[in-house]
Amino acid sequence: MKALIVYYSRSGHTAQAADALKRELDAKGVSVEVLRLHRQQEASFLGCAFEARRGAKPALVELPKDVSGYDLLFLGFPTWAGHASSPANSMVEGIQNVSGKKCVLFSMSGLKSGFVKALDDIDSSIKSLGGYVVAKQGFSESERALTAERAAGLVAKVLGHSGS
Ligand SMILES: Cc1cc2nc3c(=O)[nH]c(=O)nc-3n(C[C@H](O)[C@H](O)[C@H](O)COP(=O)(O)O)c2cc1C
Repeated sequence: MKALIVYYSRSGHTAQAADALKRELDAKGVSVEVLRLHRQQEASFLGCAFEARRGAKPALVELPKDVSGYDLLFLGFPTWAGHASSPANSMVEGIQNVSGKKCVLFSMSGLKSGFVKALDDIDSSIKSLGGYVVAKQGFSESERALTAERAAGLVAKVLGHSGS
């Protein structure tokens, strides 16, 4: 089984969740690659909030690569203003061959359960492209101590779903 974790992180917290997921996948013997995305131009806090609210798609430095060679695609992004962060929209739009792909979504928020709508936003986008969202998981800074446990639960669920 081959997995790709693609994520955007403005201040490093989504990166911590991605690291925890990678550790879990490694421990389960899954071959995993990680791609952290960066935007071409940074935006202010307020700029980010406005972008998220209007569903903007800012330019990224590198686009997610062709994902046809992976069995599982993990997509991670922070929550901004109650929505998916704008680079998540760019990420989804830029991914090729997502149709029929098993996708796992994770979002990092500041507040407990702040991530719910952000996950739903990207769930809808992936589905509209023909992708198959097998699981979604929120992480939050306010429940940082639960990150490893949540990552383990998510990986166990997803691998169970994949019949591994
Ligand atoms: C512009 C902006 C808006 C945010 N809005 C929310 C929000 O609505 N709800 C929430 O729980 N956290 C919100 N946060 C907090 C982030 O989701 C949180 O800090 C997250 O850990 C950031 O992930 P990162 O470090 O990977 O960039 C916001 C952060 C930014 C920068």
